[in-house]
Amino acid sequence: MMESWILIILVIIPGVWSGNWGVTFEDQCALKGTSIVMKCSYDYPYGHFVNNVGWSKAQYVSGRLRLFLLSKLASPRGHFRYVGNHRRNCDLEINNVQHSDEGNYYFSFVTTFNKWTSKTSAYLSVKELTTLVQPSTVTEGDDVSLTCVSGCPLHTTTVWFRDGRPVQKPVFQASREDAGKYYCAVLGQEMLRSASVPLNVQYAPEKVTLSVSPSGNVIKGSSVTFTCSSDANPPVAGSGYSLYKDRQFVSSGQNHIIFDIQSSHSGLYHCQAWNNISRRGVDLINSTEIHLDVHYHPMNISVSVDPPHVTEGSSVNLTCNSAANPVAENYTWYKRTDSPSSGSMLQVGSGQVLSLPSVEASHTGLYLCQARNSVGENNSTEVLLTMTGKEHGSHYIPILSAVGVVLFVLVLLLLWKKLRTRAEKKTVYDPALNGEGSSFSASEDQIDPVYANVHTFPPSVAAQDVASHSQRNSHCEYDDPTSSEVEVTYTAVTIKPRDPGPPHHINNNRAPQESWSKAGERDDSVIYATVAKSS
Ligand SMILES: *[C@@H]1O[C@H](CO)[C@@H](O)[C@H](O)[C@H]1NC(C)=O
Ligand SMILES: *[C@@H]1O[C@H](CO)[C@@H](O)[C@H](O)[C@H]1NC(C)=O
Ligand SMILES: *[C@@H]1O[C@H](CO)[C@@H](O)[C@H](O)[C@H]1NC(C)=O
Ligand SMILES: *[C@@H]1O[C@H](CO)[C@@H](O)[C@H](O)[C@H]1NC(C)=O
Ligand SMILES: *[C@@H]1O[C@H](CO)[C@@H](O)[C@H](O)[C@H]1NC(C)=O
Ligand SMILES: *[C@@H]1O[C@H](CO)[C@@H](O)[C@H](O)[C@H]1NC(C)=O
Ligand SMILES: *[C@@H]1O[C@H](CO)[C@@H](O)[C@H](O)[C@H]1NC(C)=O
Repeated sequence: MMESWILIILVIIPGVWSGNWGVTFEDQCALKGTSIVMKCSYDYPYGHFVNNVGWSKAQYVSGRLRLFLLSKLASPRGHFRYVGNHRRNCDLEINNVQHSDEGNYYFSFVTTFNKWTSKTSAYLSVKELTTLVQPSTVTEGDDVSLTCVSGCPLHTTTVWFRDGRPVQKPVFQASREDAGKYYCAVLGQEMLRSASVPLNVQYAPEKVTLSVSPSGNVIKGSSVTFTCSSDANPPVAGSGYSLYKDRQFVSSGQNHIIFDIQSSHSGLYHCQAWNNISRRGVDLINSTEIHLDVHYHPMNISVSVDPPHVTEGSSVNLTCNSAANPVAENYTWYKRTDSPSSGSMLQVGSGQVLSLPSVEASHTGLYLCQARNSVGENNSTEVLLTMTGKEHGSHYIPILSAVGVVLFVLVLLLLWKKLRTRAEKKTVYDPALNGEGSSFSASEDQIDPVYANVHTFPPSVAAQDVASHSQRNSHCEYDDPTSSEVEVTYTAVTIKPRDPGPPHHINNNRAPQESWSKAGERDDSVIYATVAKSS
């Protein structure tokens, strides 16, 4: 009890033991997220007893700066903690410093008979780590330096991370793998980190690729799309792509569409790409080349007859020529028959060359070949095979023929004299049509035979031909037909005027010239001729 009385006396008599009223601070700089201690010391004269201490922070409220006790501020529990004591030490600990903690702090204390508030304040500034990536956009190969700054004088070491992975050196030559987001952090306190800063590493186009859609075989007439792509940073703009055919510029743009592709579009294609990194004209990157091969079915199919003039017993080759891609591999030969049965075309062989080693009258007629490749097929026009003479047996034949012709002319003259008063018409008969009329009139009225005695393939022989030549040979030969009808015997020729115009287009150079009388003739204008020949 004695001591307390003494204390009371001491307090009542100020200045008995000296000590000055005062508070001293240190300004602080803190990284956001750290915990710091605001250094503070205070003093007061002996004889006083501290009843209360408190920290305040100056805050603006409706434009006026006012002091608020920290306990009155809305802050998480334990955010502010007084770690001082009742004399000299008035330190304040602030945990997990936030930007809102920045400001002026005041310390005040209350003694038995006095209340003291610091005249000055301690300023807390709150900073963050900031990453500088210099430059932030580089071309591959250029140097990049990383800097970690904070507003506070740091006594800690910082480390680097790119996309969460540690970075060894803060200065390096950029490669495209270095692109990413960089941040620095306090060593050992990786939660204390800067915001991420991107590094953009640019490079010229690579892996420039030309693709063609559809891939595989391109059929004439279809639609084809060329697409050029590349790996580049910045990405190649549409105008940065160019397409070339056979090294000639075609178009610019990433896509090129040909809607109706033709065989003329076949060729070697490649494309180029450039971006801001590649300079036009210097660094144009070429793709590999793509060979475009436009396929089409056989076209312009024609038959050539070799030799062009055929005599009986001689050999002749009919060759089928066509433009096709891929080259036509299968050929089928047809011969027109006068058979009224369905389909007047008889298949007579296969292979590009139809070889007739010994031509007979039965072989004459209209032929066509069908050429086929993987795309399709088409037919040639029909070609007429005729014989110009006979080489077998008697050399009387030319004489006999001459006699026959003379007789024929005589009869004609007689008839012409009789008829010229009745009908004034021109009638020209082309001997070249001998042996062909039946074929021509196959579809015509059977009542008006033009001539008789035509060799045709007996059905059995024809079937045999077809069967024996359907395999893919390059050559095909006729079997010798039944040789019962070797020579032609003309008995009666009835020539009836018919509609003008060639019934078939013939591209053989031996195509007959027909010049029949004009249409509209009456039925009574019939010319009968009798020609007899014997061998
Ligand atoms: C790329 O293609 C262009 C145009 O065809 C040609 O002039 C150039 O030489 C090519 N460059 C290279 C590197 O092949
Ligand atoms: C590329 O160059 C063009 C023209 O020079 C310019 O307009 C564009 O902004 C550049 N792009 C980049 C990513 O540098
Ligand atoms: C077919 O013939 C025509 C006319 O001669 C020609 O223009 C065309 O190119 C030919 N077609 C082919 C595929 O050769
Ligand atoms: C027809 O073709 C065959 C085989 O190529 C050849 O031996 C023959 O001489 C040719 N005949 C003619 C008339 O060209
Ligand atoms: C050609 O003929 C062969 C044998 O008959 C056949 O296997 C092939 O498919 C034919 N090719 C075409 C394009 O028709
Ligand atoms: C070609 O001729 C054959 C025989 O007459 C016929 O079956 C086929 O349809 C013809 N093909 C074309 C494309 O005209
Ligand atoms: C077949 O050929 C004829 C004449 O050569 C032509 O008019 C026709 O269009 C062709 N057919 C096809 C399917 O190309």
